[in-house]
Amino acid sequence: IPAGTDLIEEIKALRKERNAVILAHYYQKPELQDLADFVGDSLELSRKAAETDADVIAFCGVKFMAETAKILSPEKIVVLPDMEAGCSLEDSCPPEKFAAFRARHPDHIAITYINCSTEVKALSDIIVTSSSAETILQQIPKDQPIIFGPDRHLGGWLSRKFDREMLLWPGVCIVHEAFSETELLKLMAQHPGAPVAAHPECPPAIIDHADHVGSTSSILNFARDFPGDTLIVATEPHIMHQMEKALPEKTFIGAPGADGNCNCNICPYMALNTLEKLYVALRDLEPRVEIEEGLRLKAKASLDKMLEMAS
Ligand code: 13P
Ligand code: SF4
Repeated sequence: IPAGTDLIEEIKALRKERNAVILAHYYQKPELQDLADFVGDSLELSRKAAETDADVIAFCGVKFMAETAKILSPEKIVVLPDMEAGCSLEDSCPPEKFAAFRARHPDHIAITYINCSTEVKALSDIIVTSSSAETILQQIPKDQPIIFGPDRHLGGWLSRKFDREMLLWPGVCIVHEAFSETELLKLMAQHPGAPVAAHPECPPAIIDHADHVGSTSSILNFARDFPGDTLIVATEPHIMHQMEKALPEKTFIGAPGADGNCNCNICPYMALNTLEKLYVALRDLEPRVEIEEGLRLKAKASLDKMLEMAS
């Protein structure tokens, strides 16, 4: 990249030239959220990817999200600024092990969190996101045994909420796992009356203190509607960029990790994407997401089920 390049202007020009759409998750750096044509949660981003008439999707998020876009829009070029942008939940669930687990429980259906590989999606019956999981689970007959993976905290929260036993895969999100209950209690004591909003990827010790539990988009809705002026936010701190932009009169405080601040809860995978890498991805149309067609169709079946049941 030549010195002095105005990356934002160059990205805007390339977006036009390539007929590209830039999709970004709420956990992306503020400058990427601000450049995006659409910022959303995992379900909204899947819907956008399925609907867009752009030729290129530049996905500012992590690999499973860009793969979801490719599964739903195979004729588009999908680029991810950094292919190393993975997810600890995906890593926790190798497809061979998941297949063996399923084989041991043949009477169970697999309801699987979208934070997993394409191979695991292909081995699943229905995909869910944190904003569609409740609606979808309620449509499954009570006597149907369920395997839920790979996030045991989201699975455990759903299980408690609907009083429904499920076999849980033992994966966790390293970001949400890092919140400290002790530090959260200290922060709550410093801000008496401030509600806590938490993502269901948080462990129960954090969820138990939350006034609102839900997906990133539901946390944003709660931030808009709660009656007070200060909110404690227990999810990846970059989401607060949208809150601060939309609600400058309110105060948002990121829930702390063991060191007492919220920076240890930045997702290291999401953080790999930068303006420079987005510029290069649009310029070179690389790195590109490619998925073998047979695998894609199998994964698409479980994703289609989600899109059908979530609406
Ligand atoms: P949602 O935006 O769907 O709530 O997902 C959060 C997340 O962890 C993405 O990795
Ligand atoms: Fe994965 Fe957690 Fe990062 Fe989301 S925040 S991409 S679940 S590691």
